[in-house]
Amino acid sequence: MMKVLTIFGTRPEAIKLIPVIQELKRHAPAAEAIVCVTSQHRQMLDQVLDLFSIKPDFDLNLMRENQDLASLTASILEHLKKLIDQVKPDWVLVQGDTTTTFSAALAAYYCRTKVAHVEAGLRTKNKYSPFPEEINRCLTSRITDLHFPPTTVAKTNLLDEGIDAKSIWVTGNTVVDTLQSISAKLNDESMYHDSLNFLDPDRRTVLVTGHRRESFGPKLEEICLALKEIALTHNGVQVVYPVHLNPSVWDPVHKILGGIENIHLIYPLDYLSFVYLIKKADLIITDSGGVQEEAPSLGKYVLITRDITERPEGVKAGIAKLVGADKGTICEAAYKVLNGDSLSPTEIQKRNPYGDGQASRRIIEVLLNGKCKEFC
Ligand code: UD1
Ligand code: UDP
Repeated sequence: MMKVLTIFGTRPEAIKLIPVIQELKRHAPAAEAIVCVTSQHRQMLDQVLDLFSIKPDFDLNLMRENQDLASLTASILEHLKKLIDQVKPDWVLVQGDTTTTFSAALAAYYCRTKVAHVEAGLRTKNKYSPFPEEINRCLTSRITDLHFPPTTVAKTNLLDEGIDAKSIWVTGNTVVDTLQSISAKLNDESMYHDSLNFLDPDRRTVLVTGHRRESFGPKLEEICLALKEIALTHNGVQVVYPVHLNPSVWDPVHKILGGIENIHLIYPLDYLSFVYLIKKADLIITDSGGVQEEAPSLGKYVLITRDITERPEGVKAGIAKLVGADKGTICEAAYKVLNGDSLSPTEIQKRNPYGDGQASRRIIEVLLNGKCKEFC
């Protein structure tokens, strides 16, 4: 039996690892799936765990209000070193580029345990953007034994860094698997009545998220000013902004955008309601990695409020645009989309470069059988 310890801590890691854990569980008793959450996020992680009825075997419960990177890293490392020594897994499985991802990989290395990395190889090649994710993922790749890049672009990044081609398997992004698993529920409008009953059906919807550390301060303020201008000049539009719970986001967003009639600042939505809102939205403005991948699966164009993205595939395919944090650029691009100047949903879906819903199956096939037919 192969023992796989899956470790995650934040909302996006949970969303992207749950289909992998479910696939692993389907292979019992050949595989044993053990789940540990660091709970680097608490409420936002629990929303996902509850939705998918995942009960972790270990919950380190490490989130602290306004936590700093160094103490979070140290605390995760110390706890996970002990846990991995106790569980003695054959593999530690991590995803993405958070503090949990890197600390878990490092803890596994200290225990001489093999690491498999889901969503490997994403790069901007700018170590401060995104901060600290670019360095988290580069360092995780140094430690990793099996790399699962979602696309061939990500695979090429790994090869360019001298990583052995035999340890790399292109799988597609597991978020597409997650989306497919909830697709039936997305057609049942009645499920969303309670969480989204504030929506005005006669107004067009601009969905917004934002949380990147490199935007904190003046950039985040400028993005908010752009949203304010869009709302004040377009009465037929409603801006829906589920605000990230990080106080460095929550506080300035409420200060600048609070009290505007057609801007809804809301608590983070449960995943189903959020994806339903992507489906309903006329425009999406975000700096989120996951949303950049989900939107094209649902036929939506995305404005990315960053200067650079580790997901260049969407920009290249013409289904996403980098607009940075400049108010004029954001407003101009937003007005274009609101005026109908964008690709059709079917065309956007056709160009989606991020996956085919089979990523988790490929990952588990490689872990158990050493090979799979790759995503291309
Ligand atoms: C983290 C990840 C980022 C990822 C993002 C997803 C790092 C360094 N950053 O950023 O890569 O894109 O998650 O959302 O790993 N908080 C709560 N409740 C929650 C979650 C957060 O109150 O459920 C607040 C806490 O005050 C916490 C703060 O947000 O201290 C920051 O959380 P943290 O995980 O350190 O950073 P994020 O900005 O969420
Ligand atoms: N998401 C959610 N509720 C929200 C906002 C986002 O469930 O209110 C989901 C979204 O669908 C995506 C993920 O959270 O799958 C993205 O998380 P985030 O933007 O925090 O992190 P990133 O993907 O940038 O690392």
